[in-house]
Amino acid sequence: MTLRLVATLLACCLAIPAFAPPVSAQPSPAPQGVGWKTGGEAAAIERRIDGLLKQMTLDEKVGQLHLSGRGDGFDIEQIKAGRMGAVMNFVVPAEVLTVQKAARATRLKIPLIIGLDAVHGFSTYFPLPLGQAATWNPALIEEAAYWTGREASAAGINWTFAPMVDISRDPRWGRVLEGAGEDAYLGSVVAAARTRGYQRGGVATSVKHFVGYGAAEAGRDYNSTWIPTSQLFDLYLPPFKASFEAGSMTAMAAFNALNGVPATAHKGMLTDLLRGKWGFKGFVTSDFGSITELRLHGIAKDDAEAARKALLAGIDMDMMGNVYHKHLAGEVTAGRVPMKALDEAVRRVLRVKFHLGLFERADVDPAAAPALMQTQAARDVALKAAQDGAMLLKNANETLPIGATVKSVAVIGAMAVPEDERVWTDPAGLGRRVVQALPEALKQRLPADVSVAYEPAFTKACGTEFADKDAAVRAAAASDLVVAMLGEDCEFMGEGASRTKLDLPGVQQELLEALVATGKPVVLVLATGRPLVLTWADAHVAAILQTFHGGTEGRAAIADILTGKVNPSGRVPMSFPRSVGQIPVYYDQLPTGRPQKIRQRYESIYIDEANEPLYPFGHGLSYSRFTYANARVSKPSMPLDGTVEVSVDVTNAGARDGQEVVQLYIRQPVASRSRPVRELKAFDKVLLRAGETRSVRLRLDAAKLGAHDENGRYKVDPGQIEIYLGGSSQTSVMTQVLLTTS
Ligand code: NOJ
Repeated sequence: MTLRLVATLLACCLAIPAFAPPVSAQPSPAPQGVGWKTGGEAAAIERRIDGLLKQMTLDEKVGQLHLSGRGDGFDIEQIKAGRMGAVMNFVVPAEVLTVQKAARATRLKIPLIIGLDAVHGFSTYFPLPLGQAATWNPALIEEAAYWTGREASAAGINWTFAPMVDISRDPRWGRVLEGAGEDAYLGSVVAAARTRGYQRGGVATSVKHFVGYGAAEAGRDYNSTWIPTSQLFDLYLPPFKASFEAGSMTAMAAFNALNGVPATAHKGMLTDLLRGKWGFKGFVTSDFGSITELRLHGIAKDDAEAARKALLAGIDMDMMGNVYHKHLAGEVTAGRVPMKALDEAVRRVLRVKFHLGLFERADVDPAAAPALMQTQAARDVALKAAQDGAMLLKNANETLPIGATVKSVAVIGAMAVPEDERVWTDPAGLGRRVVQALPEALKQRLPADVSVAYEPAFTKACGTEFADKDAAVRAAAASDLVVAMLGEDCEFMGEGASRTKLDLPGVQQELLEALVATGKPVVLVLATGRPLVLTWADAHVAAILQTFHGGTEGRAAIADILTGKVNPSGRVPMSFPRSVGQIPVYYDQLPTGRPQKIRQRYESIYIDEANEPLYPFGHGLSYSRFTYANARVSKPSMPLDGTVEVSVDVTNAGARDGQEVVQLYIRQPVASRSRPVRELKAFDKVLLRAGETRSVRLRLDAAKLGAHDENGRYKVDPGQIEIYLGGSSQTSVMTQVLLTTS
């Protein structure tokens, strides 16, 4: 986050009284879903745009490309003069109404687009996006986005800067929490689900950050990315494509330079690929101030040149940069930017406004909005998402769920009792309002004769400073079971929070070691923004339950899992490294000519660390045990445009009902290019009763089994395809299908 954004958010937080929405079960008005209109409606919109463009002055045209935000420097007079097309960070309905009314009162009555980072919730908070991806439950993820969109749109917002679909294999990067992890397929499924959900809830999405931002070199935010064309097309672009195919109406360009060209001036990506090859009809916004940053990237001598380069590359809207506002009219007048290029950008902005129905849409009703926040229906989805996304990474001796012999539990760690947690993704001023603290939630669920003690140990959830370490250790020593809730908070995650060490921040590791030294079984509950290095914890604690900040119902969900009310079913969306030196670590690596066999020198190994991650992609334990048998295909071969059904019998061999994520990976051992050792191609999350065996069927399309070459050309090679089925990327249950040319 830039300093200006911090200032903006702070200004908002100080000035805005938070809603105090009651948890309401009242029926609420159905939201207006948004999306692209087609046929005659779309043609009529183009005619309306033609009509408007004819009437617009140069300043009014430039105004449509100007996105300004609440806070210092915001000037409503610019709206009144028809010189602002969009605003951001307005969250209080009465204020939203004021700015929208100002726009409607202008000469041409063009309404505003009103944007916000409603990244994992608006009033109800769902798990961080990485935690949502860990559910491997697209329908649930879509519902979380739907409720986010619906609440935001009930406050008058009509545009969200989400979903963030940047693939990343580098947990040093603080923004991995906003994405869906390391994999192109899972990332694409999640991108589509979130896009559908938001837009069904009433807000246009801005899929971001186009493109390559998640590959920031060395995990340092905003750093350059170097991505070979084949990898760009196979790994980084698919989630964007999936979002556009799901109807995303806008996109946001990235801060980074991609292969030497800043993404904000990347004509090849923004115009040739996105508009040309993919036929995208919506608009692209810059990121926060990224047009003026073209000077700092060293491709523009001043803001005027930056404005020109960005517009001509395909950036339609200038977010918080004031650069189009100040320089674009001059560039057009001087003939350096053709009027036609300006008109095209304005057309794209107006097109989204028309397709959103903004010209006809009733304005927000500030009196009605509070009752539409944190409804029971939204909270139910938040709870289910937090339950489904929590990953049980270790469970020695069936420490969990908490058994009948445990008569006293010590909950340790200030994070267990949140006050008003905030990460930057919170809409300013609304807070997250976590519903339950962990000790209280546990007490409610455990038998009455089990005592629950609580010691915060730290002054704040961040765990950077002890409040009373000794009291925490004493409480642990006096209990039958220790639940330590630790992790990353405050400044340790999110934008601008790149780290070189992925340990527990502050003095948390010191506390964890002291708790383990008591000899009592320690259950480590983690709420982090990224996979940390948990090698020490894995070797010493009894159980690990990992969450990526579960949101409003996060601690209730944790208590459900610890007490066995809910059987954990989250699966790792991003590999957990054993040490920082393994990064990037991901499951779909290419084979080498020197694979690891007996771990001797001159094999592709580390001499001081294993190759494998601590917890691989797709991994996650359950209180049930699932077995796989009888993997089979509906036919032994298929043509390059064919389809095959793959089946496997999955048994819940445990004593509890449980959800299993059945994952299908492929490998093509011989092809024209070297292909990954495993690639996820399908999955299904299924509920199996204790003892139940189900034949799970997944579809495999031959056309989706190919890869791009170094010129960006896609090709499916004939040949044998190995198909692996199981509950993680490490599975070895296998069947095969032959891809044939005829
Ligand atoms: C900068 C971030 O990169 C982007 O993701 C976000 O949407 C904008 N700031 C607006 O807050």
